[in-house]
Amino acid sequence: MDIKSIQAQIISDLAAVTSQSGLGEFRLKYLSRKGVLAQLTATIPTLPPEERAKFGQEVNVLKNSLASLIAGKENGLGTGIKSSPEISDDIGMPGIAQELGRLHPITQTINEISSIFTRMGFCVVDGPAIETEFNNFTGLNIPLEHPSRDAFDTFYLKDYEKLLLRSHTSPVQVRAMKNRQPPLAIVVPGRVYRPDAVDASHLFMFHQIEGFMVDTNITFADLKGSLEIFAKAVFGNDIKMRFRPHFFPFTEPSAEVDISCIICKGVGCSVCGRKGWLEILGCGMIHPNVFKQVGINAQKYSGFAFGMGIERIAMLKYGINDIRLFFENDLRFLKQF
Ligand code: DAH
Repeated sequence: MDIKSIQAQIISDLAAVTSQSGLGEFRLKYLSRKGVLAQLTATIPTLPPEERAKFGQEVNVLKNSLASLIAGKENGLGTGIKSSPEISDDIGMPGIAQELGRLHPITQTINEISSIFTRMGFCVVDGPAIETEFNNFTGLNIPLEHPSRDAFDTFYLKDYEKLLLRSHTSPVQVRAMKNRQPPLAIVVPGRVYRPDAVDASHLFMFHQIEGFMVDTNITFADLKGSLEIFAKAVFGNDIKMRFRPHFFPFTEPSAEVDISCIICKGVGCSVCGRKGWLEILGCGMIHPNVFKQVGINAQKYSGFAFGMGIERIAMLKYGINDIRLFFENDLRFLKQF
């Protein structure tokens, strides 16, 4: 008797089984004391010694597979499904999972910051990456001799004089104030461009979010209150905030805002340069010259403005020490957010 033909016989016999009693007969035929497998085992001593071990092994394999074939058939009969031993695909096996994409950490940070301000009544406005020199500089009271107007500090478009890649999101202040009437409460997230040498904290392209509010009787207290709500929503209620006097051409008075270091809680560490404070944004009351440029009556209206770097906020929030990581498209980094 050769094993191959017995295997073929087993498969066709099993396929013909349609009832529990038929399965009982099948079991008897192959696995009983006088069954086919027992007979096979009995032939082992008659074989040449060198063939015995291999043959014995084959009989064992056959015996084991018979047991699982019978169990499978039993299941099939029990549920009314005819199992076919030729079908070896396990259709119950899970498929290959599709990985879902997710928003880039900078997009997530923009969404988070925007939603904090929209909950305070601000609306989100967009502006173009290619700006006029007027909107980027003149309209914002940035004088001709200001270094940021220098060709080395701004990307000018070669063939179009007076057009440039915006170096901040502030020009959208000019656009919005020209086209709308106060009261205004607007935030502007977007890309900005500067010809900076690339290192762990500089890129030639990054993101900012600008915010401003214009109405009658807007004061520095409104600025302070709005920024405090923002900073606590992003960095937690425990942080402290301070306003440091600073200079920006488009605001007067102007300030930079620091929060107490989120790593050392103000004690001093390497992240805050031992100062205990981290600078997060620039702000101030909108300069009367800006109102003049856009045709808003500075006697009647006042307003505040602020601007911050999105990457900086995300780096502080997530403890990232190199800005380049955001734009290398390394999924091992991006998947963490
Ligand atoms: N535009 C400034 C920059 O790019 C940031 C800024 C500072 C915006 C103060 C403002 C502001 O609106 O009031 O550095």
